[in-house]
Amino acid sequence: MTFVIAAPCVDVKDKACIEACPIECIYEGERMLYIHPDECIDCGACEPVCPVEAIFFEDDTPEEWRDFNIANAEFFADLGAPGGSSKHGPIGRDHPIVAQLPPQGAVSSPFAIPPKP
Ligand code: F3S
Repeated sequence: MTFVIAAPCVDVKDKACIEACPIECIYEGERMLYIHPDECIDCGACEPVCPVEAIFFEDDTPEEWRDFNIANAEFFADLGAPGGSSKHGPIGRDHPIVAQLPPQGAVSSPFAIPPKP
């Protein structure tokens, strides 16, 4: 079991979670951050600091965001366990589940033109 980051992080990337994580198991992708499932020690320090409530214990991820459990795990498939995000630096890509999402926040933007009825 581990913590995961879900949809609210996409295109937000507040990064308060990185500061809170004592072992640097949260890695920066292009559009969101990902928690390494093998490096996470389940301390929960990151969960309350996220201003958009994007972080969940794996079993508690809301049903509509369950794919993000997979995205967090698979994101590291070809990276192994880098052993710390500050050593590794940003990873300039996203899991396909995230990469194919439309820009987030556009619908709620005060500048967005609402669709015609
Ligand atoms: Fe994302 Fe929240 Fe961290 S927006 S970068 S999960 S603090």
